[in-house]
Amino acid sequence: MKNFTFYSPTFFAFGKDTENDAGKYVKRFGGSKVLIHYGGGSVVRSGLLDRVKKSLEEAGISFVELGGVKPNPRSGLVYEGIELCKKENVDFILAVGGGSVIDSSKAIAAGTLYDGDFWDFYTGKRVENALPVGTILTIAAAGSEGSPDSVITKEEGMFKRGASGDALRPRFSILNPALTQTLPPYQTAAGITDIMAHLHERYLTNTKEVEVTDRLIEGLLLTMIHEGPRVIEDPDNYEARANIMWAGMMAHNNSCGVGRSQDWNSHNIEHELSALYDCAHGAGLAVTMPAVFRYVYKHDVMRFAKLAVRVWGCQMDFDNPERTALEGITALERFLKSIGMPLSFAELGAKEEDIPTLVKALCYGDGRTGSISGFVTLDENDCTKIYQMMVR
Ligand code: NZQ
Ligand code: ZN
Repeated sequence: MKNFTFYSPTFFAFGKDTENDAGKYVKRFGGSKVLIHYGGGSVVRSGLLDRVKKSLEEAGISFVELGGVKPNPRSGLVYEGIELCKKENVDFILAVGGGSVIDSSKAIAAGTLYDGDFWDFYTGKRVENALPVGTILTIAAAGSEGSPDSVITKEEGMFKRGASGDALRPRFSILNPALTQTLPPYQTAAGITDIMAHLHERYLTNTKEVEVTDRLIEGLLLTMIHEGPRVIEDPDNYEARANIMWAGMMAHNNSCGVGRSQDWNSHNIEHELSALYDCAHGAGLAVTMPAVFRYVYKHDVMRFAKLAVRVWGCQMDFDNPERTALEGITALERFLKSIGMPLSFAELGAKEEDIPTLVKALCYGDGRTGSISGFVTLDENDCTKIYQMMVR
């Protein structure tokens, strides 16, 4: 195991009706003038926004609002939010929505306390200071409710990039699984896929002897395999939604990633897809992961075989562990299909002729010099082949 530090100061309030305490928590964590940030309208239609405002009013906290965050959130609204926060002397941001709303809130939080262009944080500058952010989560997926990360797309060039820093970890996150019951099945499935991807990106490690985190990841993946189909079958299943929601937080606050090298190649390869085609991040990962895994599994056949046996229940073939490894990848693919996820470029709306554009952005964007690194280092040629595998 490698040396590590782990700082995860977020306060979690989990369960039914917890959103009604939003005002109390904002007060407790020092907010007096709040920006309520939300998305394209689901929280208005569900009545959640009204309940949150009522809770703030009851706590005597004033607020301004900014809606309109799109999935794959854009820089334009972040600039607008920063202006608004400065003008209104906002001292706390309350994100009401999914990963996109939370990430946009984090970007505004960092940008408001920074004299330069907030995009600097998305091109390598670490976030050291930000307004406090609280979240009320409406979809189990990105894990931003417990993570130190934010992912934003810059409209000019449609570059999708991430920023990081402990200052971006939410002060509190309210997780009421019942709020996720209004999700369309496709979004629920995309969320399940993203959670499983966060677990795989950590499982694919070059660090030896990391049994605690291996076992945590395996346990969470088994939970997702059990609960995913239950919630697709019965969207109102509160208990299944509850398990998925907490798994989503655990998968990405890095409790499963400490002390080990991690992969993130599937995420990097996917981010170019959601940047260019504006597809759901989880759906992009369903297409990306099997291709990446089939391309890299020979780097450590036994790691893939271990996953296949412990998580997918495959029989270990000691004479031919490659067979076991590949069986596990096929089992993942079948699972993703069974919950309604796409598996090919065509289903995603992606085009084969765009592969050179995707590869250029992937391997040369962000100051990269022709490759991406993770479990395996992948150059232009490798990335081209991986995208081609997704065409089918
Ligand atoms: O905008 P509204 O109207 O709210 O609709 C949203 C949106 O259309 C809808 N939705 C959310 N909760 C709902 C609901 N509809 C009905 N009922 C509800 N309860 O779902 C759609 C997707 O929302 P979004 O916030 O985009 O989903 P998600 O949480 O999957 O976030 C995706 C974004 O997070 C980034 C992704 O790249 C993507 O941009 N990620 C952020 C990470 C982080 N900050 O740590 C890590 C992840 O790997 C990921 O990259
Ligand atoms: Zn993700």
